[in-house]
Amino acid sequence: MPHMKKVSVGHPLIRLQSVDSTNAYATRLLQKSKVNEGTVILAEYQTMGKGQVGNRWVSEAGSNLLFSLILRPDFLLAERQFYISMCVSSAIVDFLLPFSNDVFTKWPNDILLNRKKVAGILIENSIMHKNLHTSVVGIGLNVNQSEFPPGVPNPTSLSLVTGRQFNLSASRKLLLKSLTLHLNKLYGQRFGEIKTLYLNNLHGMNEWAMYTDSTRTFEGRIVDVADTGELIVVHRTGSTRQYGFREIESTPIY
Ligand code: BTN
Repeated sequence: MPHMKKVSVGHPLIRLQSVDSTNAYATRLLQKSKVNEGTVILAEYQTMGKGQVGNRWVSEAGSNLLFSLILRPDFLLAERQFYISMCVSSAIVDFLLPFSNDVFTKWPNDILLNRKKVAGILIENSIMHKNLHTSVVGIGLNVNQSEFPPGVPNPTSLSLVTGRQFNLSASRKLLLKSLTLHLNKLYGQRFGEIKTLYLNNLHGMNEWAMYTDSTRTFEGRIVDVADTGELIVVHRTGSTRQYGFREIESTPIY
């Protein structure tokens, strides 16, 4: 295999007290200078934290882990970019498992602890020709926050679930280590293993449940995820369908 480089997540580590968004900062950094692969930008507070689908990510100052990781996965076909998501989800799940056995990924990449959202992932890629060029992996993990504003859907934190306070830098080190481990599976092009690990932690995998797509509510069962990240669902009627982001919703578990 020609591409067997490795990544060491958090080397270097750039710490900021306050920033608009660590993802935005990482993107600016990529535009104006040479940046080491593995660079992490960590902030205590974000004034304009970005969530998925144009949402905001609001997080109390100094309570949680907010950071972005810079990668250059130039060996990865653009159509396989979801493998980055899968690695990152598995890394966060592995980090959380010592604290609870109720840890799942909700497709595509929300991390649930005791059925509530404890972490969000926002990955922003640039593509060159058919491959990935740069990837900014933004992670927001609720650690010590105990109260959330009313508008936030179904949030929780490590401390709410375990009843104790966590040392943020110790938690950060463990999480970065888990990210290094899982992302090096990607750099080793171990695609099958990455998907298996992701599916092992996927909420609803192989379980009959109610889903709603653009036309109706039906009983279905998640059986796989395509390389593109689309969800593969078998309907009770026997047919199999593939769904893109926001084309299917599970009947709320919260
Ligand atoms: C989601 O909506 O679930 C994704 C949330 C991602 C939030 C993190 S916090 C650190 C990084 N910087 C951002 O502006 N967003 C991501």
